[in-house]
Formats: sequence, C-alpha cells, structure tokens
Amino acid sequence: MFAKVVLLGALIAGCHSVTFIIRNDEQGPIWVGIQGNAGRKSLADGGFALSTYQEVTVTAPDNWSGRFWARTWCNEYTFHCETGDCGRTLKCDGNGGNPPATLIEITLRGWKGQDYYDISLIEGFNIKASIEPVNGTGAQGKYGCKKAACNYYLNIECPSELSLRGTVGFNIGCKSACLAFNTDQYCCRGAYSSPTTCKPNSWSQYFKLLCPDAYSYRNDDPTSTFMCTADTYRITFG
Ligand SMILES: *[C@@H]1O[C@H](CO)[C@@H](O)[C@H](O)[C@H]1NC(C)=O
Ligand SMILES: *[C@@H]1O[C@H](CO)[C@@H](O)[C@H](O)[C@H]1NC(C)=O
Repeated sequence: MFAKVVLLGALIAGCHSVTFIIRNDEQGPIWVGIQGNAGRKSLADGGFALSTYQEVTVTAPDNWSGRFWARTWCNEYTFHCETGDCGRTLKCDGNGGNPPATLIEITLRGWKGQDYYDISLIEGFNIKASIEPVNGTGAQGKYGCKKAACNYYLNIECPSELSLRGTVGFNIGCKSACLAFNTDQYCCRGAYSSPTTCKPNSWSQYFKLLCPDAYSYRNDDPTSTFMCTADTYRITFG
C-alpha cells in the first residue's frame, strides 16, 4: 500500500505543469520568442504572434527553465524582426533572440522547490515587460511572490552610444554597455568575472535607476532575483 502511494505521488509530481499567460499590451503587434535552457524544449515551438491586448496560454512541465522575450517591428513577409529576431522565422524553435531584447527568465522548481524568475537587461532593452505569479506560495518579502517589472520605456532617452535606431527613424532598442562596447569590464569577463571585480558602471546604473527590478549587469542578483512557487504566471509585454 505504502509503495503504491509513493508511486502515485511520483507520477503526479512528474505530470505537474505550469501555465504561462502571455499578453501583449503594446500598441502594435509583437512576436513572442521562447527558448528553453539546455535540455529543455521550446514551448509553443518557440514563438507566436500577439496582436494588441491578445493573450496566449502555454504550459510547461514543472522542471522547465528558459526565457521569454518579445520581437518587435516584425515583417510578416520576410519574417525578419528588427529586435529580438531569431532567424527570420515565426517559431524560434530552439534559437535565442538577437539583442537588444528585454528578457524574462524563469527556472521552475529549482533550489528548495522554488521558482526563480527575473527580468534581464544584461543584453539590453526593447520593450516594457513584467512577470507575476498567480496565487503563488512560499517566499515572502520584497522579492517573494511579487510582480517583477521593467515599466519604463527606456528607448526614447537611451544614450546615443547605446541606442538602436529602427528603420522607422527612432530608437527601437537600447543596448547594454556589454552589448554596445563588448569589453571584459562591461561584460564581467576575464579579470572582471569575479564577484568583487564585476561591478556596476555608469551605463548599467542608468538601466537600474529606471528599472530597479531588472538585472542591469551580471552581478545584480540581490535586487533582481524573485522567487515563489506557483502554477500560473502572467507575462506581459508593453
Ligand atoms: C521534465 O519532466 C518531464 C515529465 O514531465 C520529463 O519527460 C523530462 O525528461 C524532464 N526533463 C528534465 C530535463 O528533467
Ligand atoms: C487564484 O485564487 C483565486 C481565489 O482563490 C481564484 O478565484 C482564482 O481562480 C485563482 N487563480 C488561478 C489562476 O488559479
């Protein structure tokens, strides 16, 4: 009897899934991109289009980890997107997005069975974004089961050294200093990879000031990592 109960428990645990409700609040269409981390599948074949105020629900096994982003200024004939492009295709199917792109990252049921989620501007910004657990339990405090959001439209005031100008003639993305200058210091590589040498810089501080919940450089964990245990997450772009 005991063995049966344990087996049943294991089966149920193995079948659990988590739902992501993905929404577009931008005044224009976006193409969502989804990439699983190594060994994890791409949900929804890696992407789909969302018109303004449209929501799509995707499910993931509860051992999933990966990232979501929005592609903007996509051409439905060439399949090319001016930000976040994953290779001229609607379904990214394993491919990541071309930065700058605001990333939403999540690891389900990680350490201590908690989900770890964040917004990353380490590869730059292209769109406002948020992720919020629905009816989550467990973690408390500022980063426990709270909405993580980058609510400031960073493109307009983006420093010219970092800006990505679109064919529309205005800024459509804002690169991180790592992406724009590709130095070990800004990318926290080489001599700058350790916790003591990987530091904020004036560019990353600009991102942090306007989007305090989001990763602005690689070592930004204490003020950027959220945790919770939830079966549903709402992800909103725009
Ligand atoms: C995740 O769980 C599914 C079952 O829900 C299983 O098929 C798959 O192998 C697991 N993947 C990893 C990487 O553990
Ligand atoms: C969250 O909890 C509320 C109140 O119990 C319930 O009405 C709602 O359906 C729940 N939402 C989800 C997505 O489970």
